[in-house]
Amino acid sequence: MADPTLLILPGDGIGPEVMAEVRRVIDWYGARRGLRFAVEEDLVGGCAYDAHGIPLTDATMARAQAADAVLLGAVGGPKYDALDFSLKPERGLLRLRKEMDLYANLRPAQCFDALADFSSLKREVVAGLDIVIVRELTSGIYFGEPRGIVTEGNERVGINTQRYTEGEIARVARVAFELARKRSNKVCSMEKANVMESGVLWRQVVTEVHAAEFPDVALSHMYADAGAMQLCRWPKQFDVIVTDNLFGDLLSDAAAMLTGSLGMLPSASLGAPMANGRPKALYEPVHGSAPDIAGEGKANPIACILSFAMALRYSFDAGEEAARLEASVERVLADGLRTADLLGPEGGKPVSTRAMGDAILAALDESL
Ligand code: NAD
Ligand code: IPM
Ligand code: MN
Repeated sequence: MADPTLLILPGDGIGPEVMAEVRRVIDWYGARRGLRFAVEEDLVGGCAYDAHGIPLTDATMARAQAADAVLLGAVGGPKYDALDFSLKPERGLLRLRKEMDLYANLRPAQCFDALADFSSLKREVVAGLDIVIVRELTSGIYFGEPRGIVTEGNERVGINTQRYTEGEIARVARVAFELARKRSNKVCSMEKANVMESGVLWRQVVTEVHAAEFPDVALSHMYADAGAMQLCRWPKQFDVIVTDNLFGDLLSDAAAMLTGSLGMLPSASLGAPMANGRPKALYEPVHGSAPDIAGEGKANPIACILSFAMALRYSFDAGEEAARLEASVERVLADGLRTADLLGPEGGKPVSTRAMGDAILAALDESL
């Protein structure tokens, strides 16, 4: 059988730097575990704009649709801030998510023991933390119409619309319940049903799907603002959190700090199964292009490397190999290796992106 195709879109800023380490990990799996991929590379975001005048070409879009999985670094940067909205790097990523219909974004936040003292929260609050935020990714206020900036009278008005159909809510709720069954069997759904009709519908539909299909899973509901507070107060009360596109964006950045750094958080954006049974899938770190450190070899590659681990698990049925990679990351952290983002106020000597990659490859070798 032909090797599965993996389309790599390094993107902008630190994207190419962290992706270079992932490529070495991919090569390691080919050489040492016989897990081979037909790797292709293409442009998305600002670099695509520089080359083609748009952040994602139709040709790249078609390649993403045809790939067995897509791995993305990050997009964006100050250089592109003044561009028309339709040409911004972020539009390239949003087009990929929308056209591939990647409605379920899994954002795990796991606190590795070696980093428990480094979180901005106390050790006892975060040690052993292992939660997943399931963020709806293809609807809500990110895509609702009407939108735009219009002139009314003599002033400008900015408009975005929060819109959810019950089908959109039900399908992401199912992903959360299914995932919970493989974990601690607990889902907390977050919205603002106290002020938003879309939140009222969200709560109703999640409750209906639960009663009809997942009565064995414990379900609770929380207003998203209170949920943000609870995530900081006692995050270990959660197992799976399911929420909408915008709340999920905010809550997952907050959850990142429970693990020590935004440079640690991977994600999987999943859609419906393809003809070959694999889900449509794009894997990407939660962080952005980090323009403040781009080009300096300082970026933490772990979020991107752990995103590849998620690809092994969710797209390529290689859960044991994913666990091997995760354990290798944990091992390197336990040995005390830290990129700059993982050093606390007391300082220490940071390692480079490349040195972190080297250490993870060495730990992979040792795992054999
Ligand atoms: P960011 O995530 O790029 O950076 C926030 C902070 O975290 C910065 O101080 C950065 O140095 C640090 N950081 C992030 N990732 C890191 C890593 N791997 N290692 C070490 N430090 C890391 O968010 P931002 O500054 O708000 O956004 C910058 C650009 O990235 C914007 O154009 C934004 O739209 C874009 N963005 C893209 C994605 C994506 O491609 N998925 C996600 C978020 C933001
Ligand atoms: C993320 C990012 C994106 C989002 C941007 C870059 C479009 O912040 O993946 O979390 O807002 O979804
Ligand atoms: Mn975000």
